[in-house]
Amino acid sequence: MDEVLKEALPTAEWMAISPGRVNLLGEHVDYNDGLVLPAAIDRYVKAAFAARDDEVVRMRSLDLDSFAAFSVRDVDSKLDLDGNPLPNWALYPAGVAWSLIKEGFAPHGMDVVLRSNVPIGAGLSSSAAVELAFAAAWQHVGGWKIERMRLAQLCQRAENAYVGVKCGLMDQFACAHGVARHALYLDTRSLAWQPIPLPLKTAIVIADSSVERELSASAYNQRRSECESALAHARKIFPQAQSLRDVSVEDMEKVKAVMPEIPFKRMRHVVEEIERVKQGCQLLLADDAAGFGKLMNAGHTSLRDLYAVSIPALDTLAAIAQNIPGCYGARLTGAGFGGCTVNLVESDSAEDFVEALKDGYQRETGMQAKVYICKPSRGVYIKPIK
Ligand code: GLA
Repeated sequence: MDEVLKEALPTAEWMAISPGRVNLLGEHVDYNDGLVLPAAIDRYVKAAFAARDDEVVRMRSLDLDSFAAFSVRDVDSKLDLDGNPLPNWALYPAGVAWSLIKEGFAPHGMDVVLRSNVPIGAGLSSSAAVELAFAAAWQHVGGWKIERMRLAQLCQRAENAYVGVKCGLMDQFACAHGVARHALYLDTRSLAWQPIPLPLKTAIVIADSSVERELSASAYNQRRSECESALAHARKIFPQAQSLRDVSVEDMEKVKAVMPEIPFKRMRHVVEEIERVKQGCQLLLADDAAGFGKLMNAGHTSLRDLYAVSIPALDTLAAIAQNIPGCYGARLTGAGFGGCTVNLVESDSAEDFVEALKDGYQRETGMQAKVYICKPSRGVYIKPIK
């Protein structure tokens, strides 16, 4: 992969390597001040870059066979150098430049060539990987020292305010902080985080339903506003609640009476999912893969029935997996509405599990799933191109 990048951009001496992520537990809670447990994975965006003397960013995506250029001076316009709207993928880097400028940095002009094996639209955060790759590249070129959490927040802001997806911090956090062989526990309120080793003799298997996420941005933003509405109702009884994080399992029953059904269901998912992450961390630390897997299964049921972000293909993948020997737990991962499931599997059974899941999915749906074992990996970094 490095040679291809070098050939496409011979002036580049450095590249940013930025991982995708999978979330093991704690779904749709990061924008409710909740607790999450993602891991960066060994699927990467690689971006070769070379500083320019002007303020122009020229970027080429080899996978999409697409080129775009913009001036950092005119980034607010979301237009390319010819005055045309930037293609969708280019909004992510442009958003990062915008965000850096808002924070008082002056991002340099750069030539950039990108390649990626993070599947696009599969819920593995290819967009956060692109954002962090550019943020790290600009930081390198500018010689700035920006703390990783701040870099992640800058990228989240780019996605929220520039691209227009009101995501939480989880994806950018995971991409920035990944640790090999570890899941990453993050408290999205205090921003305290900790790497947590995966149970011994387990493998993480990702199964891509091959159903592209549809309407995910609008449905995602809708879930966010349903949570806001749930909070407004909950505050009638608990005026001190700042977010759904402040509603406990016991409190929930008290607010049920003052709330319509939909916001109540959304709230119940959030409150119980945060509990699952608390318990899940203890189980991981006790090397209890079976106990953790049960929480993953419960998480899937909740995302399906209470949060309504699953689709039949993901339900099928999770149900088949949960019945395959050696599988501790299976659930949809990421925002939902398509994309992937994540499975925690006994490592000796992992190869057989992959085959059994592919076969079962094909039999039941007639569709092909891409199923692969992945490794928790380090977060974004810069390396010289040889
Ligand atoms: C997307 C968002 C994250 C998070 C998940 C759902 O991946 O980018 O911030 O909300 O959905 O857990």
